[in-house]
Amino acid sequence: MQIKQFRYGADNFGYLVFGATRAIAIDAGAVADMTDFAQEHDLTIAWVTNTHLHPDHTGGNASMLEKTGAAFLDCTTFSQDQQIFLDKEALTVILTPGHTHDGVCFAGDDFLVTGDTLFNGTVGNCFSGDLEAFYHSLKKLLAFPGTTRVFAGHDYVKESLEIAAAIDPGNLDIDRYLEIYDPALVVSTLADELQVNPFLRFNADSMIQKLKQRNFSCDTEKQRFISLMEAF
Ligand SMILES: [Fe+2]
Repeated sequence: MQIKQFRYGADNFGYLVFGATRAIAIDAGAVADMTDFAQEHDLTIAWVTNTHLHPDHTGGNASMLEKTGAAFLDCTTFSQDQQIFLDKEALTVILTPGHTHDGVCFAGDDFLVTGDTLFNGTVGNCFSGDLEAFYHSLKKLLAFPGTTRVFAGHDYVKESLEIAAAIDPGNLDIDRYLEIYDPALVVSTLADELQVNPFLRFNADSMIQKLKQRNFSCDTEKQRFISLMEAF
């Protein structure tokens, strides 16, 4: 199973995930680039879906469906661990409410498509208002191996790492992360995120100390995540 990242709009990313012959378009904003790539690689775009229903992610759906005759998979109807078969390999749906109530991520063999749930360097805004659900969603992603590649819904790397450096100025991993940042292919691993992404660092001593200094609750991991989201 392979994944190809497509940039569109100001900072959005969509993806083609594909096996030998069949592809799924996730957040298909870059319609022409995606269909050109599919044609060059003899791929049939069999499905179109989304990570969530914000318009910057769904804007390409109609055009892509019309151009390809693909089937539409409505992300609000997915169930946890639902599988989408691309030739012989399965892409697995992970329900990840938090940024929105309807948010989903997709797990491939060694990668995650994380939409606006988890970015490279930060996490999404909690528009659902349900920080507890957001915590459980991020824990589902963090259950994958540290080597798992993270393909997000936007390129927010530079501004996110500036914020991370302001929150945690002693964190030298932030400089290393920025050194290998490449706008032509924006990807990190879960292990990278655990080193630099302040909102995933709810078990890092330096972050716990910062929360305690500000009198935020730190008793449980979930409470520390909620405190990080509220403090920063
Ligand atoms: Fe969004």
